[in-house]
Amino acid sequence: MHKSHPHILFAARPGLPTAIAGIRRSAGLLTAAALLSGLAACKQVDHEAAFRDAAARPVMLQLHRERDALSAEPLRALTPTPAAEPDAMVSLGQRLYHDVRLSGDDTVSCASCHDIAKGGDDGLKTSTGIKGATGPINAPTVLNSAFNFRQFWDGRAATLADQAKGPVTNPLEMGAAWPAVIAKLEQDADYRQAFEAAFGDATVNEDRIATAIARFEETLITPAPFDRFLLGETDAINTDAKKGYALFKSYGCVACHQGVNVGGNLYQKFGALQAAFEIQTDVDKGRQNITKNAADAGVFKVPSLRNVELTAPYFHLGTVDKLGDAVRVMGSSQLGRTIPDDEIALIVEFLRSLTGEAPQLAAATQN
Ligand code: HEC
Ligand code: HEC
Repeated sequence: MHKSHPHILFAARPGLPTAIAGIRRSAGLLTAAALLSGLAACKQVDHEAAFRDAAARPVMLQLHRERDALSAEPLRALTPTPAAEPDAMVSLGQRLYHDVRLSGDDTVSCASCHDIAKGGDDGLKTSTGIKGATGPINAPTVLNSAFNFRQFWDGRAATLADQAKGPVTNPLEMGAAWPAVIAKLEQDADYRQAFEAAFGDATVNEDRIATAIARFEETLITPAPFDRFLLGETDAINTDAKKGYALFKSYGCVACHQGVNVGGNLYQKFGALQAAFEIQTDVDKGRQNITKNAADAGVFKVPSLRNVELTAPYFHLGTVDKLGDAVRVMGSSQLGRTIPDDEIALIVEFLRSLTGEAPQLAAATQN
């Protein structure tokens, strides 16, 4: 079936537990909710503190909990936010995100690998960084990443700001050193002004760069036709997408792809019921790299399925090109089921209803 993708296996592993009922909804949903409520709060208060302390706002958390409890659906609607004028912090973050000066040789920006207008990723199996370096893993989308309970496939970054520091010094990505990046930005009078507008003074440092980029990323939210459907607009998606959503629930995809990001709120083994791939390199070990626990080999953050139509190729190594094939792999590896072709097509139609509008701020060009 996947001759061109020898990395993907279908060997049965009968000894593995057959019930996924035990998969529990993670507190990550609430963390995401806290981040969202942080968005509103960030407008009036100190941005850095607000972002750090997203979890310390019990009132907003409680509101989100109540809203969650009221809904009978396993997926949550993104509520469209009114298109506000970007504030000084968001504008600065947007510029930094598109600025190649964050790389060692002024050739690579965040947008090189996360093209906002094209699904928020690079369309490659694994990413290409500075001087054509080939990275070891597939680039996930930045769109809606503010809703993920952790960042990276193995969840090693707790927040978007933590995450944003990684690629700049990664030799296979942007290959830069912070002092050099900071010196380049400090020489630019426009940047000095922009940092002052965002932070109150013109100091440029690593934390501020990461914070501003994270604030920009928090605006990369893409409400989709499916959200309008969840919010009561019954004709927002077609009949096939509705059938596909019913199958997505009845097959049990929602046990793992759930909540506001249709994923992004728990860790699961790729190959929960049937071996899905051979562990060949360190990146294949997933969570095991972080926890050092052998049971975590092949465990990854369940990816968000928002905009998944646009983010081929699929899985952490980009081993599968077609969305329908990815759904088929999920059926066997995660659910122990062979999903018939007509149902695969319906599930794909549902997944396509998760494609949102590219965020308005996407129009920015490379600096
Ligand atoms: C050379 C390509 C490349 C560049 C440049 C790059 N990234 Fe990434 N990004 C990746 C890859 C690959 C991953 C996955 C790495 C992993 O999980 O180990 C990733 C992961 C992420 C994630 C986590 C998403 C998720 O769902 O876990 C975010 C957010 C992100 N990058 C934002 C950025 C920002 C901000 C910048 C600029 C400071 C940046 N990236 C620069 C390739 C790149
Ligand atoms: C037991 C948990 C679990 C279940 C059930 C599950 N998935 Fe997944 N899904 C994952 C994990 C984990 C990954 C990431 C695997 C990897 O790349 O290492 C994933 C990845 C995917 C991807 C690829 C996303 C990307 O950006 O690469 C798609 C598409 C997908 N799942 C759809 C589905 C569908 C449709 C179903 C139901 C038929 C389903 N999943 C059931 C855990 C699950």
